[in-house]
Amino acid sequence: MEGNLQDDLKKAMRIYPQGVTVATTSSPDGPKGMTVSSFTSVSLEPPLVLFSVAKSSTLHDLFRDAAAYAVNFLADDQKAVSDRFAGKVQLKDRFEGLKFTKGVAGAPIIDGVRAVLECRAWKVYGGGDHSILVGEVVRARTLNSKRPLVYYSQQYTTTGPAEYPAPPSDIV
Ligand SMILES: Cc1cc2nc3c(=O)[nH]c(=O)nc-3n(C[C@H](O)[C@H](O)[C@H](O)COP(=O)(O)O)c2cc1C
Repeated sequence: MEGNLQDDLKKAMRIYPQGVTVATTSSPDGPKGMTVSSFTSVSLEPPLVLFSVAKSSTLHDLFRDAAAYAVNFLADDQKAVSDRFAGKVQLKDRFEGLKFTKGVAGAPIIDGVRAVLECRAWKVYGGGDHSILVGEVVRARTLNSKRPLVYYSQQYTTTGPAEYPAPPSDIV
């Protein structure tokens, strides 16, 4: 893609607010997870959701081949959890010191998340430099009433009536 178009697309996507989730799965090496904001719902019958995983990620093949995974919806007091699972904190094990339980499909459910969807792998599609993972939801739980963590304009924020972050000044 032309350099400018890539930059324009990135710029536009930055001002599209996205909820922050951590997709988790189990592996022979223990639990694994990555911060994901490409999550969205797809279908109610059957109950399907999707997220996309960069082919460049060290966790790509694990998620592509996983039989089950969980999508943990982060709350606004879990910025550090998001950073940790985005690889921004250097840890040998991203779950180190973090409380979690195992869901029906064996995938980790992180303590304190706003909600969690437990999924069985349904289909994987190619999507350019990402793979699109479609999961069938086997259990959905809303766990507390905290505000959601939102990613917007390269910053964490949450939903109103909190003060709004300043709008980006890069309007073209
Ligand atoms: C807010 C936020 C959202 C992200 N969303 C995605 C996503 O949807 N798909 C993806 O592949 N990476 C996403 N990432 C980046 C991954 O979390 C990050 O590249 C990955 O955890 C790095 O792991 P690795 O170094 O083992 O590949 C996101 C990062 C952040 C901070």
